[in-house]
Amino acid sequence: MGSECPRDAGIAPARILTKTNVGVIGTGLIADFAHLPAYREAGATVVAVADVVESRATRMAKKYEVAHVYTDYRRLLEREDIEAVSVCVPNYLHAPIVLDALAAGKHVLVEKPMAMNLAEAKAMEAAAERAGRILMVGFNSRFRPDVVKLRRLIEAGKFGDLYFAEIGYIRRRGYPSGWFTVKAESGGGPVVDIGIHALDFTRYLAGSPLPVSVVASTQTKFGACAVEDGTWESSDVREGLRDGKIFDVEDFATAWIRFDTGLAMTLTTAWTANVARDRVYSNLLGSLAGASIDSYHSIHKRGRGGSDAEQIDVFTEEAGMVCDIAVPYRSIATHNAEIRHFLRVIEGAEAPVMSARDGVVMQAILDAIYQSADQQREVAVSI
Ligand SMILES: NC(=O)c1ccc[n+]([C@@H]2O[C@H](COP(=O)([O-])OP(=O)(O)OC[C@H]3O[C@@H](n4cnc5c(N)ncnc54)[C@H](O)[C@@H]3O)[C@@H](O)[C@H]2O)c1
Repeated sequence: MGSECPRDAGIAPARILTKTNVGVIGTGLIADFAHLPAYREAGATVVAVADVVESRATRMAKKYEVAHVYTDYRRLLEREDIEAVSVCVPNYLHAPIVLDALAAGKHVLVEKPMAMNLAEAKAMEAAAERAGRILMVGFNSRFRPDVVKLRRLIEAGKFGDLYFAEIGYIRRRGYPSGWFTVKAESGGGPVVDIGIHALDFTRYLAGSPLPVSVVASTQTKFGACAVEDGTWESSDVREGLRDGKIFDVEDFATAWIRFDTGLAMTLTTAWTANVARDRVYSNLLGSLAGASIDSYHSIHKRGRGGSDAEQIDVFTEEAGMVCDIAVPYRSIATHNAEIRHFLRVIEGAEAPVMSARDGVVMQAILDAIYQSADQQREVAVSI
């Protein structure tokens, strides 16, 4: 009676209902695609939204039945009935808005990348510690079911010593527009936009090692001239409030990263590249086994964190033979899982699977990639 079956150890978190009241700052694409519906699904009450474009905020408030709309996010932060906020604004606004939110005593989920540079990220981490509030960065790929399952296998010791990772996040055609392609507003191109996901989930799989040095190269070969663009165009471009003409970031990058565990990682990322199809991949080599996560995204699956194949391939030896093992999984909406987790952490019901420190470490890698590409040499990473 009452005995627990170890087979029930959950992969997919159970549906929970939360009492947490939240606010959403920035009501553009990711708020509409992920945060607002995910809070609703988790049972949280979105008390207020804020956006400088009032018509957009009002439209989103109506769509998601949110009672209060502000054009100045500071008015939202003054509300004592809001315990936590999502920060879903362009990257250059992450640091100032997160610092204000923490000073107002809110828990914060800030979209990736954490900030524009390492100094900003460290200031945000320190502010969260001072305020005694949770600060998480939107690394939703950690909730991909293939990542969750592979991590369980790695933690169970099935891979031995992980010493190499070949990773990538590549789109054949798919550069976003508006602020995304303006360095002063985004901080960079596909490295900070999509490459960051492959970097973060692979580092997580590898047990969160620290970066030691980076060699990188960035290129801009297409800019805003590629055909079939604009899948992730910013809300302002979509609504005709600005054009997408400025493009002063990279559209391709490759990097070689050395970690303190001895792990070597190669990253390739692109918004535009003459390849067969969009791909998110992480090929890991360990002393006992290797694994391949390789998502061949059709355009319609983009952002859902799954693949058409829905299978992790593991390469190992069993009973004196080389063996291939296929681990099946079902794709899920990773943002929903991330936001449910954020709420559960606030409520003390789950230990965080990511911290402000993970955002800081990632920011150090991003900074080093651009520094190495600029200086055309290997650079040491210090955090
Ligand atoms: N995790 C993911 O998969 C994922 C996917 C897409 C975007 N993102 C991240 O989400 C963030 C937002 O991206 P997006 O695609 O939604 O961009 P977007 O341009 O569609 O939306 C940004 C919104 O912020 C609003 N805004 C700007 N300044 C503001 C201010 N001072 N106060 C309040 N609102 C303000 C804009 O008016 C706009 O509505 C970025 O950091 C991006 O990197 C993450």
